[in-house]
Amino acid sequence: MKPLPSYQKKSSFSFFIIFLVFISVVVLFYGEDFDCIFRSQPLMEFQESDQAESDHNHLPLTQAHQGEEELGLPFAVGKRERDCNVFSGKWLYDDVARPQYREEECPYIPPQLTCQAHGRPDTAYQHWRWQPNDCDLPSFNATFMLEKLRGKRLMFVGDSLNRGQFVSLICLLQPSIPQSSKSMKTSGSLTTFTAKDYNATVEFYWAPFLVESNSDDAIVHRVKDRIVRAGSINKHARHWKGRDVLIFNTYLWWMTGQKMRILRGSFDDEKRNMTEMTTEDAYRLAVGRMMRWVERNMDPKINRIFFASMSPCHERSAEWGGEVGGNCYGETTPIEDPNYWGACSSRSIMGLLGSLFAGTKMPVTVLNITQLSEYRKDAHTSIYKQQWNKLTDEQLANPKSYSDCVHWCLPGLQDTWNELLFAKLFFP
Ligand SMILES: *[C@@H]1O[C@H](CO)[C@@H](O)[C@H](O)[C@H]1NC(C)=O
Ligand SMILES: *[C@@H]1O[C@H](CO)[C@@H](O)[C@H](O)[C@H]1NC(C)=O
Ligand SMILES: *[C@@H]1O[C@H](CO)[C@@H](O)[C@H](O)[C@H]1NC(C)=O
Ligand SMILES: *[C@@H]1O[C@H](CO)[C@@H](O)[C@H](O)[C@H]1NC(C)=O
Repeated sequence: MKPLPSYQKKSSFSFFIIFLVFISVVVLFYGEDFDCIFRSQPLMEFQESDQAESDHNHLPLTQAHQGEEELGLPFAVGKRERDCNVFSGKWLYDDVARPQYREEECPYIPPQLTCQAHGRPDTAYQHWRWQPNDCDLPSFNATFMLEKLRGKRLMFVGDSLNRGQFVSLICLLQPSIPQSSKSMKTSGSLTTFTAKDYNATVEFYWAPFLVESNSDDAIVHRVKDRIVRAGSINKHARHWKGRDVLIFNTYLWWMTGQKMRILRGSFDDEKRNMTEMTTEDAYRLAVGRMMRWVERNMDPKINRIFFASMSPCHERSAEWGGEVGGNCYGETTPIEDPNYWGACSSRSIMGLLGSLFAGTKMPVTVLNITQLSEYRKDAHTSIYKQQWNKLTDEQLANPKSYSDCVHWCLPGLQDTWNELLFAKLFFP
């Protein structure tokens, strides 16, 4: 196992405190409680045989280094972004072309993300446009994307942050679809948006750890005593089959600053066989497990796979030179320091993503949204959202105490994530 970077070692206690705050926001959002009971475990034991879970073994699992360029990626229509890292750039204020839609015009935004409807007094957060340093982003064209998705299925898989990106994509696409031809339906962990005239679906599947866990219920997540099940992905992955484009994420739920509990065997076993692992080892193996499924079930000539890197949080204004004791509450402008990196985003997890997806047989495009989102302390829902629990007088007197500095208002930052998805899907 790789040692933690020294930045994390030095600040592991404050890191943990920050995550407690971070997690308590999630608790506010979902009405849940978190509990962390973890210890260490060697790597090999996670890697169980899972031949039985795979339905198609036609794709070899060995890693072969193939540059994305040589592959002629599915969906690609041009290569405008060659030699340009679209994730490296700056935010420009754009009063004309941003936002791309109005909050009240998109009926699909859940009340946890409609900030204006919940009294947010400022709107500047909707007007920032991402400008890469070395090129321009292609403009998002909904008609074009719908044409390309004709007869196709695109699916987001992951946690509430991926759900925000899913909703943003629907808000960007739906103005180009006649009212009678679009519909949205939720059944358990699966939400499906259908564009009938295009015979296309855009879906979201709730799987906060990707692998099976005891937090898999889309509405009632059992976060107390969180447990992920070793080697087991098919309970979820069978719902991902037949999709043409998959966009994964997973991060928030792993970040307790503590160890993960891993279940060997089944949740139904009378006596559960439980072991423990560091978060990073468990994360590596869960994402690795997803990758093995992808390599067995997806075809590089037909499918595209994306993985969104960590979405940052802004829990402590002292980190960006603000007042001690503050957080994202009341923030109205982005951070200007190009090197800003907050404590919620683990550099070692970022490093892991780089190594997990380097040279895989089935190419994975990382949507590297972490750094550009780090700047956006102004873009969180903060207190301007539907509250799960009734607020106490004490909370109301101190708004930052119940501010959500994890999730993002729509329209807003996550529309940019989709512009980047658009760029990488069609102009890789
Ligand atoms: C958007 O895409 C459609 C379909 O490809 C095309 O006809 C149209 O000209 C595009 N619009 C813009 C503004 O580029
Ligand atoms: C609609 O798309 C599905 C694939 O998502 C395809 O199997 C089916 O044949 C298409 N139907 C029509 C009428 O084109
Ligand atoms: C628990 O699982 C580990 C790892 O698979 C195994 O080595 C061990 O024998 C199991 N213990 C019991 C009591 O089943
Ligand atoms: C994402 O971008 C950051 C810089 O913004 C870089 O340090 C990191 O290596 C990138 N990660 C991946 C997986 O590409």
